[in-house]
Amino acid sequence: MKSKLSLLLICISLGWESCTPPSKPADPIEVDRQLAYCDTQIRKTLESIGQNSCLMPRSIDTRQKTWNTCDIYDWTSGFWPGILWYDYEATGDTAIRSQATRYTECLRPLITPLHKGDHDIGFQIFCSFGNAYRLTEKEEYRDIILKGARKLARLYNPKVGTILSWPGMVKEMGWPHNTIMDNMMNLEILFWASRNGGGKELYDIAVNHATVTMKHAFRNDGGNYHVAVYDTLDGHFIKGVTNQGYGDSTLWARGQAWAIYGYTMVYRETKDKTFLRFAEKLANLYLQRLPDDYIPYWDFDAPHTADCPKDASAAAITSSALIELSSLEDNEEAARKYRQAAVKMLETLSSAQYQGREQKPALIMHSTGNYPGGYEIDAAINYADYYYLQALLRYRKMMAEDSQQTGKTSD
Ligand code: GLY
Repeated sequence: MKSKLSLLLICISLGWESCTPPSKPADPIEVDRQLAYCDTQIRKTLESIGQNSCLMPRSIDTRQKTWNTCDIYDWTSGFWPGILWYDYEATGDTAIRSQATRYTECLRPLITPLHKGDHDIGFQIFCSFGNAYRLTEKEEYRDIILKGARKLARLYNPKVGTILSWPGMVKEMGWPHNTIMDNMMNLEILFWASRNGGGKELYDIAVNHATVTMKHAFRNDGGNYHVAVYDTLDGHFIKGVTNQGYGDSTLWARGQAWAIYGYTMVYRETKDKTFLRFAEKLANLYLQRLPDDYIPYWDFDAPHTADCPKDASAAAITSSALIELSSLEDNEEAARKYRQAAVKMLETLSSAQYQGREQKPALIMHSTGNYPGGYEIDAAINYADYYYLQALLRYRKMMAEDSQQTGKTSD
């Protein structure tokens, strides 16, 4: 009442224009419409892949219209169950929840000792069972996540202070202890497990991994090396090389996206400002080098010829990361900058040029999986869809919080 009276007095002194009631924050993405679109595409995928197997939709090549599938041992196997859980979160539809449960259950063999695995156990288990537990609180899922985290932790080398990402590459490439940038994403399952009965050791492993990676796996400008190679015995850093980028010292777009997302998440979990400042440095480099449409070429340093492919997956991962980074910021201007950039990324990803719509059942197109390997170039890929949907949900939450704030200040 008192505040209404003050508002009236301000109105009288400043003129009536200043009394326009606070409007709902503008939503350039039209997020509810995009989430409804995602739901439609996901149902098309469910129809097209059949609903009785454990094969997961992985990618759709440029000239294809249907999904290539993969088995549960593929590194991307957790994303499809994760997409279904996000769709259930968006729609509340129990039929989608049943499918999410079914595909998640398919992944159980991954935590058995028979499956050797690598750092990807984090993506596989946390995107599937992690979301399943978050939305259902089923205790059994909690145990599976803990087992997944312990399995990941067994790859940690205390001499180096990081996780061995690719045990298979030790012999194949002669990289004794290799740690790839993508592995930053998989620290999240360790933090989560540590908070949920897994013990402090898992937290320490995650923090050490992030700290050692920060020291060695980046150039001075904040650009990442995809693979950091260390000596197994004394732990010293040997070299930084690439596996999926254009060159050893070029800026592979998805690697930088994983790094921005990873350090933002490490700051969320540790509240250590060193990680916040580092996430800003990585994000600033990425933003400075973006083309006008906010979707990077697959490698920022690849020759940008007319047919140089983009990587929408990097944009999806980064948009999700920047929404979180803006919400954690201690600097208002930086928060605004990251938020505006994330919105621009989501606007482009939600346009006719990027959405699969009638062309393909995927949510978004034009990602690049492995250019040097010659596959999934300018393709639709499940992890691009996963992070796009996650970004939309984070954006929707941010808008709801804005509305609440607007409501509070107008009382
Ligand atoms: N984690 C593998 C990739 O980003 O392609």
